[in-house]
Amino acid sequence: NDPAKIVVLISGSGSNLQALIDTIAAGSIDAQIVGVICNNAQAYGLKRAKSANIPTHIIKHSEFASREQFDHALISCIDQYQPHLIILAGFLRILSSQFVQYYLGRLVNIHPSLLPKYPGLNTHRRALEAGDTQHGASVHYVTENLDAGPVILQAVISILTDDNEQRLAQKTLTQEHRIYPLAVKWVIEQRVKLRQNKVEFDGSILTTPVQIDPVSGNITVNNKTLTET
Ligand code: GRF
Repeated sequence: NDPAKIVVLISGSGSNLQALIDTIAAGSIDAQIVGVICNNAQAYGLKRAKSANIPTHIIKHSEFASREQFDHALISCIDQYQPHLIILAGFLRILSSQFVQYYLGRLVNIHPSLLPKYPGLNTHRRALEAGDTQHGASVHYVTENLDAGPVILQAVISILTDDNEQRLAQKTLTQEHRIYPLAVKWVIEQRVKLRQNKVEFDGSILTTPVQIDPVSGNITVNNKTLTET
């Protein structure tokens, strides 16, 4: 079997892209990143892709009259690769419902909060202002409502009394680099599937997202510890 093909969409630093590049290079995921698409010519993530010899494409949203036209250009670019999976990794554009429907079940995102808490921006600040004791990151299928698709995997971290926004963002990002490649591996291996707006894991519908404890590394699926990752 040929490795599964992945296209990654980015807008910025691309540290999640890097985590995926490294995990694939280590042989942990049987996949190939066949293209990286970016809407910002200055994004550092483009350098990361080039260093890994991945073809890059810059498609600037500002050059299109509407969201639909921009998304159409994205689709044309993505489809030349016929990817199994499209990964949003810090891609700062809201996608049209046509785009989302077209790739439904093959489109995943990472978000820096414990969804459904704090969709949108400034998640770390909002968690601190709310006095939360826990925070984290979520990998989810993308559906039509922003940051509201079914969640596959979450890492939960404790908010400490001396955490500020920057420190919390850094701790969260570290966990993102751990959970995103793991969730992608499960999707590629078809252990995880989108089924009627729910996540199926090893043939069972998740009643709550899979959780990884960052300290122990223990993974919990429907209240049971996962032994085979
Ligand atoms: C991450 O925090 C991700 O959750 C959010 O944007 C950030 C992207 O970081 N959507 P990077 O570009 O992967 O370094």
